Amino acid sequence: MIRISPSLLSADFSRLAEEVRAAEEAGAAMLHVDVMDGHFVPNITIGPVVVEALKKVAKVPLDVHLMISDPDRYIPDFIKAGADILTVHLEATAHLHRSVQSIRERGVRAGVSINPATPVRLLEDIIQDTDMVLLMSVNPGFGGQDFIPYSLTKLRQLKKLISDRGLKTEIEVDGGVKPENAREVADAGADILVMGSAFFKSGDYRATMEKIRRAFGDA
Ligand code: DX5
Ligand code: ZN
Repeated sequence: MIRISPSLLSADFSRLAEEVRAAEEAGAAMLHVDVMDGHFVPNITIGPVVVEALKKVAKVPLDVHLMISDPDRYIPDFIKAGADILTVHLEATAHLHRSVQSIRERGVRAGVSINPATPVRLLEDIIQDTDMVLLMSVNPGFGGQDFIPYSLTKLRQLKKLISDRGLKTEIEVDGGVKPENAREVADAGADILVMGSAFFKSGDYRATMEKIRRAFGDA
């Protein structure tokens, strides 16, 4: 069964603990935390202090997506704060291998993310060192954008790269995912779907999860 990682970016920040609980009760497999620095992406969100607070209330793993320049500087802080999966962008670091090693040597699962314009082939020499690839299906920075259809082609390429190499790397897809396209995205190769606005703006989190399960013929 596909796993859903609701993106807290679209949650009510004044009631984060309740939002975490409600997402977990609805069946969230993990919680996606979008960290933006106003430099790598044109938006500023949260830092390690908030991750630390989330860690106190979350029962499921924290899936932390760093959309920041020079992520190496902050990897130790986010791990200390409680990230269970920590993802850096290929485009944001000059020494991606070092970034990934620095996450893994601290005992945390390492993810690498690529933007919509970054080719999958650039992952060829790092993929064997990653636990997850986060494929962006919108340009990072904001919730509520439309899924870029070409992402499905990239997803198939990525899935093939992983299976050709016999790797266990998981694929997470982020941006514009909703109950209506969840099945298509999963069929193209995704293991984990990030869902921000389609989840938190739906009003009824359980019903949203049920819609997804139904799309998979699973309810
Ligand atoms: C976008 C973020 C996403 C965002 C997804 O830069 O990385 O995680 O929250 O939001 P939706 O699901 O609304 O596209
Ligand atoms: Zn994200």
